Amino acid sequence: MIRDKRMLTLGIETSCDDTGVALIRNEREVLCEFLSSQIKDHSRFGGVIPEFAARKHLENLLPLVDTALNECGVKGNDIDLIAVTRGPGLMGSLIVGVMTARALSQAWGVPLIGVNHLEGHLFAPMVDAEDLEPPFLSLIVSGGHTEIIRVDDFGKYELLGQTRDDAAGEAYDKAARILGLKYPGGPEIERLAVEGNPNAFEFPVPLRNTDKVEFSFSGLKTALLWQVKKFEADGSELPVNDLCASFQRAVTDALMSKVRLAVKQTGIRKVSASGGVSANGALREALSSAREFRAWVPSKGRCTDNAVMIAMAGSNAWCRGVRDGEVLPDPSLHDIMM
Ligand code: KG4
Ligand code: ZN
Repeated sequence: MIRDKRMLTLGIETSCDDTGVALIRNEREVLCEFLSSQIKDHSRFGGVIPEFAARKHLENLLPLVDTALNECGVKGNDIDLIAVTRGPGLMGSLIVGVMTARALSQAWGVPLIGVNHLEGHLFAPMVDAEDLEPPFLSLIVSGGHTEIIRVDDFGKYELLGQTRDDAAGEAYDKAARILGLKYPGGPEIERLAVEGNPNAFEFPVPLRNTDKVEFSFSGLKTALLWQVKKFEADGSELPVNDLCASFQRAVTDALMSKVRLAVKQTGIRKVSASGGVSANGALREALSSAREFRAWVPSKGRCTDNAVMIAMAGSNAWCRGVRDGEVLPDPSLHDIMM
C-alpha cells in the first residue's frame, strides 16, 4: 500500500560507473544519499571498462543499501517503493542494479518501478528547486546523450532534437584523450581552461547556423586533433590551457545556440539543464546569464549520475499511475517520450 503523502522511495542507480543509493520522502525530500564512484578505477584505462564496472557495482550496491537503511533508521519493509534505473546504460551494470532491486522488492514485499536514466536526469534540477514546474525545456548533456526535450507535463515529453554523432560529454572525454589528459575529460578540460584563452583557437561550432535543434560534436573533436598534430609536427610545445579553453567555448556556444533556438521556436522561457556536462562552469554561467530565459541547473554533485534523481523520477511516475509489470534491464532504452 502506497501512503502517497509520506511515500518513502529507495532509488538505485547503476547505469554506468557510479553506484548510487538514495532514500527520499514525498517525491522530493532527500533523507540520505550515497554514491560510490569508480572514476579512479577506470581512469587508468582511459574510459569505462564495462565488465569491471559491473563487478564493482556487485561489490558496492548491497553494502550501500545497508548503509542507507541504517543511516535513516529504516527497515526494508518500511519502504513504499523501489525505483531502479533500467536503461539506457551498460548491460552488465544495469543487470546488477535491476536484479538487486528485484530481489529486494521480493524479499521486502515492496513494489518496484523501472526508471529511464534520462528521465532521471530530467528530474535532477527539481531536487533543489521547488519552483521548476512544467512546461519547460530540458537540456540533457551527459556522456551518452545531448538533447533538448520539451516537458509539457511530467510524463509528457517531446524530443525537440539531439546530437547527430557524439554526445557533448563524449566530446570532452575524447578531446581530453587527444590532449593526454585523464578520464573523465570534462572536469580536466574545465580545470585547465581556467588558465587559458577561450579565443586562442577558432574551433568550428557545428550546425550552429541551421534552424534545426540538433547538435554535432565529432567535427569539433577532429578539429582539435588536427590542431594538436600541427603543433606536434612543428615540434612546438602544446598550449594545452588555450586549447582547453577554446574547446570548452566551442562546446558551450554549440549548446547555447540550440537552447536559444528551442526557446525561440517553442516560446517556452524556462530551461533546465542536467547530466554531467551541466556541471561545467562555463555552461552554467552562460545559462544563468542568458536574458531570453530563466535557467535551472542542479547543484554540481547532482549533475552527474546519482540515485536521488532516479528515486524522484520513479516516485513521480508511480504517483502518476505508471506500472511496469516485470522490470528488465534495457541498455538501448532511449525514448522517454510519452
Ligand atoms: O551524466 P553523467 O555522469 O553520465 C552519463 O550518463 O553519461 O556524465 C558524465 C559525462 C562525462 O563525459 C564527463 O566528462 C562529463 O559528463 N562531465 C563534464 C564535467 N563533469 C562531468 N563535462 C564538462 N565539464 C565538467 N565539469
Ligand atoms: Zn547519466
